[in-house]
Amino acid sequence: MNQTDNSGRVAALFDVALTFEGNFAALSDSAPSHGQQQTNEAFTEKWSRYEDTDEKAAFYGFQRDWYLRLYGFGDTPSLRAHLEGCEVIFDAGCGLGYKAAWLAELAPHALVIGMDFSGAALAAAKTYAHVPNLFFLRGDIAHSGFRDGVVDYVNCDQVIMHTDDHDATFAELSRICRPDGGEVACYFYAKKALPRELLDDHFRAACTNLPHEALWEMSAQLTELGRRLSALDVTFDAPDIPLLGIKGGTYDLQRFIYWNFIKCFWNPELGHDTSMATNFDWYSPSKARRFSEDEVHELVAKHGLGETFFHVEEACFAGRFGRP
Ligand SMILES: C[S@@+](CC[C@H](N)C(=O)[O-])C[C@H]1O[C@@H](n2cnc3c(N)ncnc32)[C@H](O)[C@@H]1O
Repeated sequence: MNQTDNSGRVAALFDVALTFEGNFAALSDSAPSHGQQQTNEAFTEKWSRYEDTDEKAAFYGFQRDWYLRLYGFGDTPSLRAHLEGCEVIFDAGCGLGYKAAWLAELAPHALVIGMDFSGAALAAAKTYAHVPNLFFLRGDIAHSGFRDGVVDYVNCDQVIMHTDDHDATFAELSRICRPDGGEVACYFYAKKALPRELLDDHFRAACTNLPHEALWEMSAQLTELGRRLSALDVTFDAPDIPLLGIKGGTYDLQRFIYWNFIKCFWNPELGHDTSMATNFDWYSPSKARRFSEDEVHELVAKHGLGETFFHVEEACFAGRFGRP
């Protein structure tokens, strides 16, 4: 089927009227809260700068490999096999759309719909205008407009903590997920040590009054801090400090400071621009909730979903959830 036929099929999945221009439509405006608006603008800014870097291919490759681990697929053929039975795939909070494009390539029989509240949705639509089964919507995933239970695979990777109300968002993702065998794949930031949490909270509040330029400048400085700490190449044994949430063990100095005190991301394989965008991504959106593992399990159970797969790592929790 061609794009026009497919856009009609996509529109039929929605309760709200959608007017497509090619592969793009905007949901009618639900007015974002101040915090969500600031978060949208921060991501519009991040993605518009990142679009022009030449480090994207390495970053996308890294993200795809991580995705396979986060959601228990192991390798690309397993993910492809998993998507074989899916007719409708939703990438909730799709950013520049590269994961939606990957899913559309692995599942050419399915309709893949990416949605983002920031300007990245339109940029994604332009980048992937040639893919006949891939569509992009600008809108709030907490009010997605989908009919009940029409999505086979809901992907919400690295997004829910940036939404205005994570509980309402998760309820929405659960509502639109097919009741018999559908799945929601979702990622949550993990709470970190107390000094890091306090500094992060301070910045979440302060960043709303700082211009993007100042935040980019700080992101460059944090990247340089990470680079210099890494270059020291120091490993040491840290003691446990449970009251501060600091876990003892053998650490590289940069990683110890990163996990416990201040996000100073530096990864030479991903490159300078990606490291800087990662630091900007952390300190510029005012909305960025962190969760304990218990909070994630409670949220999933509260919305009537069971856990097909659950993954824990220092930075995050991720899992696939469906009706038991
Ligand atoms: C860290 S990025 C992750 C993007 C993409 N999922 C990925 O894995 O590369 C978070 C994205 O969520 C989007 N976002 C935040 N709140 C949203 C909401 N309420 N509705 C739709 N998108 C939202 C942001 O605009 C941003 O593009």
